Amino acid sequence: MINLFLLGLPGAGKGTVSEQIVDKYHLTHISTGDMFREAMANETKVGLEAKSYIDKGDLVPDEVTARLVEERLGQPDIKEGYILDGFPRTIVQAELLEDITKKLNKPLTNVISLEVKEDTLVKRLSARFMCKKCGATYNKITKMPKVEGTCDRCGSHEFYQREDDKPEVVKNRLQVNEKMNTPLKDYYQKNGLLTCVDGEQSPEKVFESVDAVLSKKQ
Ligand code: AP5
Repeated sequence: MINLFLLGLPGAGKGTVSEQIVDKYHLTHISTGDMFREAMANETKVGLEAKSYIDKGDLVPDEVTARLVEERLGQPDIKEGYILDGFPRTIVQAELLEDITKKLNKPLTNVISLEVKEDTLVKRLSARFMCKKCGATYNKITKMPKVEGTCDRCGSHEFYQREDDKPEVVKNRLQVNEKMNTPLKDYYQKNGLLTCVDGEQSPEKVFESVDAVLSKKQ
């Protein structure tokens, strides 16, 4: 069983490598960012609260985020393990996660940190765009749709840029997340779960490196 936490700054490639991991290992992908975006689109209570933080590049409060994760991790469809993408993001969240996984008997088995330099992150985020219908992620520099203007995954023709990928928000997002990144790495280094992977490589090479770590656990 693989229960993975993918750690990395905004734009490090967590979503991108998650898709490849899901294809090979059939893990359930749990992205707090995706969950918040869905809640915002549906204008739920959590979505409206989250929007006020996300649009500025700030973190949603720990308890709100942890509640969402606890509900999701408790669902019966998680049979072959999970990937947590973007949670925990603070030490408080890491401690809450420990309580949650203990209660549900689904402890983390791996933590992989994708290491990417800040200037690469800024470039990636400003070039990222998404399919409006299925959320597939593209990049103006490195990953254009195979047929121009058509989503590879669902065939839709409508794309958008995330509000929080606009340059003025990206700066704050990076600052907010950078503050927590090292303490989180220290936390998981101490309990022996952490492996760092070079996230500057091509997406294929990043997956190969992650795969090498995960296949040892099987
Ligand atoms: P979230 O959606 O989790 O955003 P994030 O962590 O900022 O991460 P991103 O999704 O932006 O980046 P990614 O690492 O997945 O990169 P991607 O693969 O897309 O969270 C959004 C917001 O929600 C937060 O700011 C916060 O407000 C809130 N939130 C979420 N979780 C929370 C929590 N736990 N607590 C509190 N608040 C929370 O790649 C980026 C781009 O680079 C793409 O265009 C891709 O094609 C390209 N790319 C990827 N890999 C490579 C590569 N190897 N080489 C070249 N290009 C690449």
